[in-house]
Amino acid sequence: MSLTGKHILSSDQFERQDLERLFQLADLLVPVARGEQVTRVLEGAVMASLFFEASTRTRLSCETAFLRLGGGVTSTTGTEVTSIAKGESLADTSRVVTGYVDLVVMRHPEVSSIHEFAAATNVPVINAGNGAGEHPTQALLDMFALHREFDRLGKPMDGRRIALVGDLKHGRTVHSLVKLLSRYQDMTIVCVAPEELGMPEYLLELAAERGHRVEVTDQPSLGLKDADLVYTTRLQTERFKDRPLPYSDDFRIDSALVNRVCREDAVIMHPLPRDSRPGSNDLSADLNRDPRLAVFRQTDAGIPTRMALFASVLGVADEIAGSLRPARWYRPEYTGPDDAPFYK
Ligand code: ASP
Ligand code: CP
Repeated sequence: MSLTGKHILSSDQFERQDLERLFQLADLLVPVARGEQVTRVLEGAVMASLFFEASTRTRLSCETAFLRLGGGVTSTTGTEVTSIAKGESLADTSRVVTGYVDLVVMRHPEVSSIHEFAAATNVPVINAGNGAGEHPTQALLDMFALHREFDRLGKPMDGRRIALVGDLKHGRTVHSLVKLLSRYQDMTIVCVAPEELGMPEYLLELAAERGHRVEVTDQPSLGLKDADLVYTTRLQTERFKDRPLPYSDDFRIDSALVNRVCREDAVIMHPLPRDSRPGSNDLSADLNRDPRLAVFRQTDAGIPTRMALFASVLGVADEIAGSLRPARWYRPEYTGPDDAPFYK
């Protein structure tokens, strides 16, 4: 499927061959993401980044990806400084902003927001998170990062055991991820969550309909066992409002648990942010030196993946290979102090 001119609202828009094409392009763009090469295929294009909900990674990596393609970025964050605070509708906002720019990336707390926004314009709109709905660009970068991890470990993508852990009910990243995982073959998808935070039924059914085994447990020590990928998530506290938080210490993923139950060659991911406040029961920083922890390789994957997506949506993907030239400024050989073994 050609992505040119398309809104990207759900990860279900991508079939396996679309993913493979996108990841080939992302591979080509890794040196650009690392500041080793330059491309200008989007010179003159402008992206609007509209973030009506908190973000560090998605906003900065989308903006950086567009800038590294040679484009320009205009942005706003929060509704209080836009005319939405004066009662302007999302549809009017969409028509106005997309009269200025060539592509929009939007995050909003309401599930229906992105559909309302996209329906009001022919300019491509990218969903950067719609409430507890989806986060398709996160799932794309997760799959790109996972491809690279499994390649390094000599494992094929098909036939893997994948544990999705935490707040699977409200976690939009896992909703989008299940849709992409189910495009591969012969997967076992293990949903590990407290009963009241389980994966929505329609996603369990979708995975089963596409021929995968689906298992459900509320016991991390069972669910993580034998998994090739452990994908942990944060309790989405912002979706609870006045309700109590239903979580227990069991959901703290730390080195004691990982060393006790996980495979030696497991990959551990998390979309981040991880909640580092005392008592938060999220992914523990005591795993930071464990080579199985891929969370920063995962965040690094955000730039080439989003570059590949923007270039494809704006119809310049074929120009990238011929456009690359060396960068001339200083960059360290690798970013994090423990990254050396993973840089290639
Ligand atoms: N950053 C991801 C999201 O916005 C995951 C999270 O916040 O827990 O969905
Ligand atoms: N993973 C992710 O979406 O991070 P942010 O919420 O910081 O954008």
